Amino acid sequence: MELSDRVTLVTGSGRGIGRAIALKLAEAGATVVINDVGATDAVNGVIEEIKAMNRQSLGILADVSSSADVDKMVATAIATYGRIDILVNNAGITRDQLVLRMSDEDWDKVININLKSVFLCTRAVLRYMIRQRWGRIISIASIVGIVGNAGQANYASAKAGIIGFTRSIAKEVGSRSITANAIAPGFIDTQMTQKLAEQQRQELQKRIPLGDFGTPRDVAEAVAFLASDGARYISGHVLNVDGGMGGV
Ligand SMILES: NC(=O)c1ccc[n+]([C@@H]2O[C@H](COP(=O)([O-])OP(=O)(O)OC[C@H]3O[C@@H](n4cnc5c(N)ncnc54)[C@H](O)[C@@H]3O)[C@@H](O)[C@H]2O)c1
Repeated sequence: MELSDRVTLVTGSGRGIGRAIALKLAEAGATVVINDVGATDAVNGVIEEIKAMNRQSLGILADVSSSADVDKMVATAIATYGRIDILVNNAGITRDQLVLRMSDEDWDKVININLKSVFLCTRAVLRYMIRQRWGRIISIASIVGIVGNAGQANYASAKAGIIGFTRSIAKEVGSRSITANAIAPGFIDTQMTQKLAEQQRQELQKRIPLGDFGTPRDVAEAVAFLASDGARYISGHVLNVDGGMGGV
């Protein structure tokens, strides 16, 4: 997989799945812009690892749910590297609660950080991708957006929204050689899932045909494939990375 000369922006890449994606894309030769919100040490750590691979990297602190922050982030990346070829919409949060008890704030926050961010970042980079007639938009959804999950109506709605957005974008910009795809991870071992109680984790493991949670690297491998020239004819697709759980 060859991504030299490609400039990538990975949102929420200070830790977890985003960090693994950033490192994998750098390994494949890409220049990687690291974004996170207020996590300077984590961002600097990822940049150091990428520079140790002799690749270029830049960190930009920005809240991806803020239109002003996103526009500034993309302008900085363009001013530094002149292009953005690959956007990975990865930043996300959970605020779990049953609908009856869910606050307006927990609804809005999850929709804004998980879904509005995808619209804002995609809109900001598309201008440049259309001009260069090449681009890859890869958004991290979730199997929860396909099958639903009690206690996660806000998160499931945002992730289902990402899938509809991705399929629409694929139709809007396909004629410019820009592809848009989503990845739907199952349960992946990160700080997000470390909140689960041990008993919950064991119950979930029983529902995973491959028997265990995935690793951030499992998701990163799928992103690297969709970003590569080998995936040039794949667009509007949702790729499950879930140990076989999909649709259960
Ligand atoms: N872990 C899983 O099992 C799992 C499963 C399916 C989908 N996902 C999705 O994968 C993505 C990454 O999840 P993770 O497990 O690595 O979570 P994580 O909590 O470990 O990492 C998320 C990162 O996003 C950053 N972030 C949060 N809000 C932000 C904002 N407003 N602006 C910029 N950055 C922000 C965080 O600071 C953090 O570094 C998320 O979209 C998540 O919904 C995770």
